[in-house]
Amino acid sequence: MINVAVLGYGTIGAGVVAVLQTNADSIEKKAGERIVVKRILDLRDFPGDPNQDKVVHDYKVIEEDDDIQIVVECMGGVEPAYTFVKTALLQGRSVATSNKELVAKHGAELISIAEEKRGNFLFEASVGGGIPIIRPLTQCLTADVIEEISGILNGTTNYMLTKMEDEGMAFDEVLKEAQDKGYAELHPEADIEGYDACRKIAILTSLAHGKQLDFEDIHTEGITHITSEDFLYAQKMNKCIKLLGKSWVKEGKLYALVCPMLIDKYHPLAGVKGVFNAIFVHGNMVDDTMFYGQGAGKYPTASAVAADVVDCVKHMGTHIKIIWEPEKLELSDFGEFSRQYFVRMPYEVPMEDIMEAFGPVEQVEVEGVKEKAFITGVMKEKEYMKAAKRFDTILGMIRID
Ligand code: HSE
Repeated sequence: MINVAVLGYGTIGAGVVAVLQTNADSIEKKAGERIVVKRILDLRDFPGDPNQDKVVHDYKVIEEDDDIQIVVECMGGVEPAYTFVKTALLQGRSVATSNKELVAKHGAELISIAEEKRGNFLFEASVGGGIPIIRPLTQCLTADVIEEISGILNGTTNYMLTKMEDEGMAFDEVLKEAQDKGYAELHPEADIEGYDACRKIAILTSLAHGKQLDFEDIHTEGITHITSEDFLYAQKMNKCIKLLGKSWVKEGKLYALVCPMLIDKYHPLAGVKGVFNAIFVHGNMVDDTMFYGQGAGKYPTASAVAADVVDCVKHMGTHIKIIWEPEKLELSDFGEFSRQYFVRMPYEVPMEDIMEAFGPVEQVEVEGVKEKAFITGVMKEKEYMKAAKRFDTILGMIRID
């Protein structure tokens, strides 16, 4: 029998307990051991909950319980999760977590402690919820050089953009709906400002390149400036708007970016709707691959955490090697990267001024919107910025992928 302690009895923690208990028999067959949730750490009490007797409020109780072999961390945030997880790993326990803040910031260190202590630190659920992506990157695609990762990595914003596009819903209304459905982070900025997607692409890029990409180094923009007019233009251009977390190698240089982008409506990511996430990975040998599933929500995320618990049980005393060194992964200046931009300006701005600043552009017009909207030629980000600075009236810009 293997005893597990679950840290955090919120949406995901409760989901993990439910998965481990509901599927206990089939999980036992696959793990080769009975897995029992022995303790649950939470500040709250849960009167009437079938697991109420397992709830403790002090981590010391778990730390000092020698019968616990695996710790599941679903608290979210860096502290106190980091201290608890590090303590558990140093004690030789294995840890499964869904916490992307923790993994993005301390992944390399926690993996190295797990290796030293012959335990495991697994975090499949930290990116893409129920989508298998960490294992594919660290195992199945390990023979490839990864040249691009482009992901719809945040369920809340994809849900919002889909509703805005398909049903013309307003931003605030649709955010509230996503929050009610339990997809959103505690603070909505983490989703809508792109911070959540930023941590996830930092994790995936670190794993793909085996070194620490600091999420603070990734230029990150959210979806708060996206309006219903943008969707009208996107439709006219046969494109759709997606919040992408991307990292890619071009001419030997590594770039990373999180921002809303216009993608062709035939791009494999264009059909990813609602709370679904997808991660497009291009390897130099395997070519294009895509991983798809529910990126948020109680049971999809809990399913991935519980599978990590099973893997920990199957590898008791054996470390599953994950290459993620603490050495810093340097990004190239994305100001040097060239692409096209879709730009909206007030109708009054003369086309001559626009072309003088941006060079030749392709105008885009939609019925009922009186603006100057256009697609620039291919230009470096820093050249775009320089041209855009000449106007104080830019209504919006979306990069074209
Ligand atoms: N708030 C996140 C999302 C949860 O919407 O994708 C999963 O990380």
